[in-house]
Amino acid sequence: MNTNTTIGIHDLSFATGEFVLPHTELAAHTGVEIGKYHVGIGQRSMSIPAADEDIVTMAAAAAAPIVERWGADRIRTVVFATETPIDQSKAAGIYVHSLLNLQPSTRVVELKQACYGGTAGLQFALGLVQRDPSQQVLVIAGDVSRYELDSPGEATQGAAAVAMLVGADPALIRIDPPSGLHTADVMDFWRPNYLSTALVNGQESIAAYLQAVEGVWKDYTEQGGRTLSEFSAFCYHQPFTKMAYKAHRHLFNTTGHDLDEDQMSEMLRRTTAYNEVLGNSYTASMYVALASLLDHSSDLTDQLIGFVSYGSGCVAEFFGGIVVPGYLEHLRTDAHRAIVHRRQPIGHGTYRELHERSLPQDGGHHLTPKQTTGPFRLAGLSGHKRLYETS
Ligand code: CAA
Repeated sequence: MNTNTTIGIHDLSFATGEFVLPHTELAAHTGVEIGKYHVGIGQRSMSIPAADEDIVTMAAAAAAPIVERWGADRIRTVVFATETPIDQSKAAGIYVHSLLNLQPSTRVVELKQACYGGTAGLQFALGLVQRDPSQQVLVIAGDVSRYELDSPGEATQGAAAVAMLVGADPALIRIDPPSGLHTADVMDFWRPNYLSTALVNGQESIAAYLQAVEGVWKDYTEQGGRTLSEFSAFCYHQPFTKMAYKAHRHLFNTTGHDLDEDQMSEMLRRTTAYNEVLGNSYTASMYVALASLLDHSSDLTDQLIGFVSYGSGCVAEFFGGIVVPGYLEHLRTDAHRAIVHRRQPIGHGTYRELHERSLPQDGGHHLTPKQTTGPFRLAGLSGHKRLYETS
């Protein structure tokens, strides 16, 4: 094995749901002053999947352009991280594997640890590529964030999937080996198997996230990581975009660094542009932040990016990545902007109907209404089996 092999993210692409609910529309019905949404939590709208969309259709839509660009010959592993799975046994990635016609000689597995799962997938992928640099791993992180109607969490919903091709000599980001880790047994956010919406202790979840930021940085430093001043931007898990600012301030304050508002904005502003209109995408959120940074910066070549991944429960990780020369040629900026702008705005009534919808549980043959204009759809259910098709 060549110890000089650099490994990282070779390509990155995201997809989201068909519909979008503006926070102005939500505010008109909740009576909440819009400043709380726009400024207080930093959200302007949220993606709402159509009745015939789910994590599989979004994941396949995110991964399809990657497979189209690079082919699938070197992909021997598909890792799909999600905390909104569709089955207790079968990995959702197998449906994606099928929709994308990936080769049979592939291992496919699902990972879960709340919003941290995508980072576990990325780290495991780096290890697989280290063992055999001729192989690539398709890492997918995708979720539909749902809280109870009329609850405080409702304004922090959203949906998206990110697909990343991980391999040797990456075209986008080289991931640095040191990682800072933190695990603590907390009940800040969870979803028992019998519930379709998440339970959350809002303020406790923010405190647990901040505690985890301190923990990962301490461990990162002890693992021989770089100094804070070497990083030019930071991608945080963004359950709502204001959380990135809270976490960043906390990181600097607790490590004795000064940080004025302009510096903070410079390090974060470009990472929040997509999240503030897509909403929380749980496992995908930090990688949507990375897409946002790449798509909204003029040139990041050779710059060091910090990644702060947090998953309630909780597990967190800090690591760094360096943007490689030539990355600009591989960006998907136009496609990403089109994916955000093509969403159809819906009113509050339609949103509530979609939210209250659940799939039939009787094992019968049920077709779903055709709503999505995306490349893949959930056509229905038959004999307790999901039926997917290419649109
Ligand atoms: N104009 C401007 N700002 C306003 C305002 C107005 N008119 N009205 C209120 N605000 C501000 C408040 O001052 C507050 O700001 P600070 O946080 O800076 O103090 C902010 O808006 C939010 O107000 P509240 O704290 O009163 O809001 P809330 O009680 O309704 O709950 C929430 C907010 C806790 C984020 C809630 O939406 C929630 O529970 N969301 C889900 C949980 C979550 O996202 N947790 C994050 C950490 S856990 C995690 O990261 C994993 C994950 O993905 C879930």
